[in-house]
Amino acid sequence: MDLLIVGSGFFGLTIAERAASAGRKVVVIDRRHHIGGNAYSEDEPETGIEVHRYGAHLFHTSNPTVWEYVNRFTTFTDYVHRVYTNHKGVVFPLPINLGTINQFFQSAYSPDEARALVHELAGEFDPKTAQNLEERGIGLIGRPLYEAFIRDYTGKQWQTDPKDLPAEIISRLPVRYTYDNRYFNDTWEGLPTDGYTAWIERMADHPNIEVRLSTDFFDESQPFNKTATVGQVPIVYTGPVDRYFDYAEGALSWRTIDLEQEVLPVGDFQGTSVMNYADADVPYTRIHEFRHFHPEREDRYPKDKTVIMREFSRFADRDDEPYYPINTAEDRNGLLAYRELGKGEKDVHFGGRLGTYQYLDMHMAIGSALSMWNNQLA
Ligand code: FDA
Repeated sequence: MDLLIVGSGFFGLTIAERAASAGRKVVVIDRRHHIGGNAYSEDEPETGIEVHRYGAHLFHTSNPTVWEYVNRFTTFTDYVHRVYTNHKGVVFPLPINLGTINQFFQSAYSPDEARALVHELAGEFDPKTAQNLEERGIGLIGRPLYEAFIRDYTGKQWQTDPKDLPAEIISRLPVRYTYDNRYFNDTWEGLPTDGYTAWIERMADHPNIEVRLSTDFFDESQPFNKTATVGQVPIVYTGPVDRYFDYAEGALSWRTIDLEQEVLPVGDFQGTSVMNYADADVPYTRIHEFRHFHPEREDRYPKDKTVIMREFSRFADRDDEPYYPINTAEDRNGLLAYRELGKGEKDVHFGGRLGTYQYLDMHMAIGSALSMWNNQLA
């Protein structure tokens, strides 16, 4: 073995694929029973509808190197992501755009009129001196739009009243003064034609790559454990950085999500892939309906059944899946301390979203793995 990779998400698999193609013998371990990390998907058995097991994953990038690289393993559909939100029983398009504004104010403002209105409403607070998230939100888009679309949704995401959240959580709230409600602005966007798992399996399909599942790096009873390997072989570690050092500098804080899946006896539940719920009286933040991610599969998917997933957000305990870094001042200090400790680890490279305590989209995880390969490992 020339390289041990801990974690088979997009970061670990990109390094594994590059190293294997360069002739190195690679072992990839993952504590889960499947490869792919959080991008893993599987067909729901009753309906055959592809479900993203750890929450909806939409691929998008403007990075030509990443786009060329991912196209070696999969083609992409022409899916374009759009999100809607239910506020007081009425559905509005997101991100907030001219359509949202005109529907909300029951008006027909031109772009300039809408811009002037939002500017006037936002005058209540100066976003630069805002004392909390609520003041900044109002200072950016005005109280009516903030209270309808941001306040309760953010409160549910953080399980905290936005008046008690730091203003820094939001730097801007995009408002579009056109009717364009395309969610992402990237050059390329789509979903893997044969699904995420087929894509991920193709990355790992190389004679120089050995994958060992249900194998935890910290389990001393398996041969690729930390004690047996550090200092003996180069390691790319993509698990949580605080866990690596046994929480010596404290646990970094994360938000997690709970996903409640249900098969419903209707062909179409909500007419779109993602519906947010903006109000406090609905406990979940959004509902995903997976058939709508693949309209090109309509002839394969059942006409009388559909799969939905309700998403609930909360703070993560140590045993929960860490999803979004919270990034308090204490976390940032802890991360700096862990980075210092990391420098002392011989030939251990920390990467990916858990290893660097950073939210990374898939294209960012792949891009940063390609850089690590080129700059540090190749
Ligand atoms: P990832 O978490 O995928 O992989 C790490 C792997 O390490 C896991 O498989 C884990 O089991 C393993 N591991 C950890 N500790 C271990 C140990 N001790 N021993 C062995 N293995 C261990 N991105 C995007 O572009 N579009 C999107 O729509 C979304 N949506 C989205 C929704 C949600 C809810 C989340 C949380 C994330 C997204 N993402 C996303 C981000 C996407 O999931 C992310 O970019 C990739 O998962 C990053 O890949 P990594 O390899 O860094 O981590």
